Formats: sequence, structure tokens, C-alpha cells
Amino acid sequence: MRLADFIDANLDLLLSDWRAFARQLDLRRTAVSEHALQTSARSLLRQLAADLRAQPHEPSAGHRPSGATRLAHVHARNRLRAGFTLTEMVSEFCALRANILERWARENGEMDAQAHDDLVRFNQALDQALKESISRYSAGLERARDLFVGILAHDLRTPLGAIAMSAQALMLADELPGRCREAATRIGHSGSRMQRMIDDLLDFTRTRLGSPLPLALSNANLEDICTRALDEIRAIHPEQTFLLECHGRLAGRWDANRLAQLLANLLGNAVQHGYAGRPVALRVRRDEGCVIAEVHNEGAPIPPHMRHQIFDPLMRGQRPGTERRRTGLGLGLYIARQIAVAHRGTLTVASSESGTTFTLWLPDDPSPD
Ligand SMILES: Nc1ncnc2c1ncn2[C@@H]1O[C@H](COP(=O)(O)OP(=O)(O)OP(=O)(O)O)[C@@H](O)[C@H]1O
Ligand SMILES: [Mg+2]
Repeated sequence: MRLADFIDANLDLLLSDWRAFARQLDLRRTAVSEHALQTSARSLLRQLAADLRAQPHEPSAGHRPSGATRLAHVHARNRLRAGFTLTEMVSEFCALRANILERWARENGEMDAQAHDDLVRFNQALDQALKESISRYSAGLERARDLFVGILAHDLRTPLGAIAMSAQALMLADELPGRCREAATRIGHSGSRMQRMIDDLLDFTRTRLGSPLPLALSNANLEDICTRALDEIRAIHPEQTFLLECHGRLAGRWDANRLAQLLANLLGNAVQHGYAGRPVALRVRRDEGCVIAEVHNEGAPIPPHMRHQIFDPLMRGQRPGTERRRTGLGLGLYIARQIAVAHRGTLTVASSESGTTFTLWLPDDPSPD
């Protein structure tokens, strides 16, 4: 009997083998019934049989799109929802293959050329379905993780807002003893730092989930934006000296909040990763149809091989010989560049013994023509 006919004729038997296999997994921990889990296994088997009948043997074609591919996607999604681990899903495919081939070989006896051909094609189709299932399962898992992080970051904002407001209220209270006031100031600064990390995390998950960074463009002035970013960073690093130089007309159509976030990230980095006690300079000038903002700090140069990587998400450099604690997530530059790109601009770095300079190049009006 041809393998495709065998599968169709013995569907119930093969599914009862599958049930026996599934009982070895602890399905009580899943929210889905055994019956529901069998439905996609049944559809997948039917489709594999249909593919075996329909498609010619193509040993060189590594990838054959088939109905089984589509069903493999559905199958993987169901397994992920049902709480299967990746290993369990792969074991399920292995068990299906072993059971089908064992029963078929028992019924068929000797293998002729046709049976051999069926066997090769069945393995190809099943491997393809397995590959598709794994890739869909992994993508689904990553998405679920991103959503989890996104929701967590989003929900952390409210209690953090309450902490920041309470710290602010304490700082303003006249009767507060000096040491308590210092403590309230530290709570406020740490809250601001956490707020920035959470904002970065939210933006990161948003871009990972496929949404571009939303921009609210309006008429803005880059000098005002620089002042805002500097005020924000000065509140966190009151001991640090900052220099601001602005030249030319610095008006344009931008998202002022986003640009302040970008500059605050660069300024924060300059303090965090530059030499302690050295001034940080922010210089802005006009060029034709665009403005250029540079953030410069003195410090150990970023090694040449790191200069591309530091813009990758979750990438934090290591500076040999520094004692300073690393508290960041490695998202600041990734988001800063996303904001520049969303404005149709660029963000680049130059680093040498004389210091590190991040350069933002920004067109006056990033709206599409
Ligand atoms: N001004 C700078 N001088 C030297 N190295 C820098 C500077 N800015 C960034 N870097 C390097 O680039 C890395 C990535 O920076 P990024 O801002 O993305 O992450 P981070 O500052 O480590 O953490 P966070 O998510 O809090 O910003 C840093 O860990 C650091 O090694
Ligand atoms: Mg940073």
C-alpha cells in the first residue's frame, strides 16, 4: 500500500498512537484538552498524505512550499498556546514519524522502489513541516516575551510616577531634616533614572514588535530642546559641568519630546562613560537644509570594532580598568538611532584619544515629500 493511502486508511490508529505519546507529556499543566490537541495533528497528517500524493519527488529542492507548511504554522501556534516546550513539540514530530513508519513497514513487508520513494518524500515533507513549526514556534515565543516585557515596563510607570511625586513632595517640605531631604533627593534621581530605563525598554519592545517609533512632528527649536535635555540630565548629575553652544537658526519640524530623549541619552552616556569631572559639550549648528548636533566628552576611546556594535540593542561596552558600576540596559544608543532614523536623520560616532563625539544630523523637515 502506498504511504499516503496507508495514512488516510489508518488515521484513527495513528492518532491513538499519538494519544499514547501525549499521555507521557504532562498535559494536565496545559489549558487545552487532549481532543483539541489531536485536531491539528489529524489535519497535519491528512495534509502530509495529500502532499505525498500530489507532489513529485524533488530530492534537490531543499524547500517545497506545501499545504503542510501552512498547517505546520497552525500546529506550532496551538502547541505554543497549549504550553508545549520546544523539545516536546519536536519529540511529537519524532514520535509521529516513528509510529507511522513502523506500522507501515509492518504492513508492507519488503520495501520496493515505490515504497522507498514514498519514504524519502514522507521524510522530506515531515522535516519541512518540522522546520516550519520550529521557526513559527520560536517567533511566537519571542513575540510573547516582547509583549510580556512591554506590559511589565508599561505597568511599572504608574507606581514609579507615584514614587517620583512623593519624593518631590518630600523635597519641598520645609520641616524635613537635612538627611531626610538628601534621601528624598536620591529617591527622586533614582526614580528619574528608572523612568528613562523603562521608557527605553518600552520603545525597544515596540520596535521589536514591528511598530515604527511614532513621531508627533510640530514646529520646534533645537536650542529649546537642548536646554530641556540638559535640565533633565543636570537634575540627575548636579555635580557635572555641561557646555552648550548654539549657532544659526535652529528651527525645524521635529518631535521635540523624542529629540530631547535622544539628546538626554547622549548626554547621560557622556557623563556615565566619559572621564569623571571633565566637562561635556553640546554643540549645535545649522547647515544647508539641516542642523547638526554634537555631544562630546573626554574619555577612553571606544575600540574601533565596537563603534558599530554599540548601536545594537542590549549592547553594553566594557571598559577595562574602570570600576564604575554598569547600570544601563544597553538600549540608549539603539533608541537614539531609531529616533534619528525616524526623523530621516543619522547618528554616528567618532572616538579617539581626544574624546568621543556623537553627531546627529537632522533634516529640517522629515515629512515625506
Ligand atoms: N560617550 C561615550 N563614551 C564612551 N563609550 C560610550 C559612550 N556612549 C556609549 N558608549 C558605549 O556604548 C555602549 C552602549 O551605550 P548605550 O547608551 O546603548 O547603553 P548603556 O549606556 O550601557 O545603557 P543604557 O541602556 O542605560 O543607555 C555603552 O555601554 C558604552 O560602552
Ligand atoms: Mg546609555
